[in-house]
Formats: sequence, structure tokens, C-alpha cells
Amino acid sequence: MLDSVPESTTSPRILVLAGDGIGPEIVAAARRVLDTVGSFDYEERLVGGASIDELGTPLSDEVLEDCRAADAVLLGAVGGPKWDSTDPDAPRPEQGLLGLRKGLGLYANLRPVKPLAALIDASPLRRDRIEGTDLLVVRELTGGIYFGRKERTATTASDECLYSSEEIDRIARIAFEAARRRAGDGGGGRVTSVDKANVLETSRLWREVVSGIAADYDDVELDHMLVDNAAMQLVSDPSRFDVIVTENMFGDILSDEAAMLTGSLGMLPSASLGGEGPGLFEPVHGSAPDIAGTGVANPLATFLSVAMLFQHGLDRPEDARRIESAVEAALDDGLRTPDLRSGAEGEREAGTAEMTAAVIAAL
Ligand code: IPM
Ligand code: MG
Repeated sequence: MLDSVPESTTSPRILVLAGDGIGPEIVAAARRVLDTVGSFDYEERLVGGASIDELGTPLSDEVLEDCRAADAVLLGAVGGPKWDSTDPDAPRPEQGLLGLRKGLGLYANLRPVKPLAALIDASPLRRDRIEGTDLLVVRELTGGIYFGRKERTATTASDECLYSSEEIDRIARIAFEAARRRAGDGGGGRVTSVDKANVLETSRLWREVVSGIAADYDDVELDHMLVDNAAMQLVSDPSRFDVIVTENMFGDILSDEAAMLTGSLGMLPSASLGGEGPGLFEPVHGSAPDIAGTGVANPLATFLSVAMLFQHGLDRPEDARRIESAVEAALDDGLRTPDLRSGAEGEREAGTAEMTAAVIAAL
């Protein structure tokens, strides 16, 4: 009998890194969403500025080890003016995030951009420009200029950008696989590989390797685009894109740009995957120190990151869809955090708590 089955002792373990600024608020809201969908064991740990204050380092070895042992890592945001410094030796909150990515081997960052119908008028772009947009940025996350050798003298500084063909190969395959999956049985997926091959040697290697892999995916169309052109096309004709694959820094910049298509940077979720261990799930936006503690932070990108956690981290796609639908329902109801206001009729101003309650009610 069902009643006699002992209670499962294998709730997924989620390592929670709230971080700084609005991080603790949005992560607390996300935990409420998680608790509505299932049962989880949480462990909270410090990262970023909070960890610098407490432990003198943005990411301790113990925390990295605890992350490795979890089923998924949920992160809020890191950083803030309190820790801003031009001193090259001062610890910076962002090093915590970069250390997690590198330490967990998370080389693939997925940032889906799909403007929701209810928010089309909140986008700075005209409706006819963004309608039909549904793209995925696949950003390389553990190589390039972010992780190259850094040098500094009193009057000069350099950041090395290094890529190996293996690093390019594995991220390109993630992009081709994603395009194939998104296209479904009908085929017709497209990968746009973004580089700066007219200037950078790393980009020329990138282009060569990506072109070579295309032969293994003859059902997926491949085109190459220079990054400046891609930045322009993202605002002039975003619906032309399907999967964009690009190196670490180009992906950082283009994904913020693409995020605005959805009406607010506060809507874009992300999953960082790759290594043997758990994935890391976090909103793309930052720690918004200016609104921290005021109760108006938009928690939706974090909820959508939780949906990605269900999809990619726990292999529970139906729970992912449930959360996405609940987010849409709250927006369809007219609820808007300040960052999402467009002034259209029927909008109702909501803070983090009201938005969270509405999403949970819709679950
Ligand atoms: C992002 C962020 C980070 C990055 C910062 C906080 C280091 O902008 O995840 O896009 O540059 O990768
Ligand atoms: Mg960024």
C-alpha cells in the first residue's frame, strides 16, 4: 500500500548561494516556489561580497566542495559598490562566481530569450520588431579573456584571450544539439556562431572548429556573424536568430542586450552546465544594490532559473513547464514589478512578495 512506503529520504539537495544585494530576497522567493513544487534539502552558503565580509574570500574551498556534492546550485547575485575597487589585489565578489564556474567545470551557459506576450509592450523595441523572437544564447563560460593571464604594471595592463580547439568543439556541440532539440522532428534548426574573425586569432580558430563540427549536424544550418553585426541584428531583426553560440565575453555582452528584448533584464534566466557535477542556475541580472531591501526586486528571472534547474538539473521538464506557465499567468493577471511597468492599462504594481504569491497561487 502506498501509505506504508517510507517517506523518501532522497530529496534533491540544492546548494543555495544567495549572494549580495537583492540576491537573498529573490532566492528566498525562489525557495518558496521550489517548496510548492516539491520537497528539497537546502544548504545555504556564502558567496561573493557576503563571503568576503565573513571569510575574507569570495569563494571558500569548503563552499566549492559543498557545491560539488549537491544535485544543483541555485545562485542569487553577487557584487555591489561596497566591494568595488581598482586595487588589483583586493578580493572582488565576481571572483566568487567565476571560481564557481571554473571549479565546477561549467563551460556551457544557456540563456534563453523569449519575450512573453504580456510583456511585449515593456520592451524598448517596437512590437513588430520583437514578435516571433525565440532565441537561445549559448555562451562559452570557462575560457577566453575572463580566465587568461592578467598582467599589470603601474602604467600598463593586459588580459590574455586564449582558446583551445577542444574548448570550442565542446561548446559548439552543445549549440548544435540545442538547435536540433529546439527544431524537433521537423528539423530546420539554425546555429549562428558569433566571433570577430576579421581581427582576432582566437576567432579564426573558433570559426574553423565550428565549421568543422557542422558536418556532424547536417540537419542544422550554420552561419557565422561578426560580433558587431550580431549586436546590431539583435535589435534590428532579433527573430532571425535561433541558437547563438559565442565565446565568453561576447556572450556576456550580447546576452544582456538580448535580455532587454524581453522587456527587462529582470526576466532572463540562465543555466550553467558542463562538468560531471551539478549545474548552476542563476538569473542573468546583477545584485541591484540600489533597490536591495526595498521589496521591489523582480523575482521572475530567478523563478525561470528554477524552471531551468528542473529541466536541466533534475530532469523534471514537466515541473519546469509548470513554473513557466505560472510566471506567465501572474503577468497575464497584470502584475508588474517596477522594472516591468510600461504604463499600459490593466497593469498592477507589485513588489517581490505579491509577485511571488501570485506565481505560487498559479502553480
Ligand atoms: C554574467 C555577469 C558576470 C559575467 C559577472 C558578474 C562576472 O555579468 O553572468 O553575465 O561577466 O559573466
Ligand atoms: Mg553579464
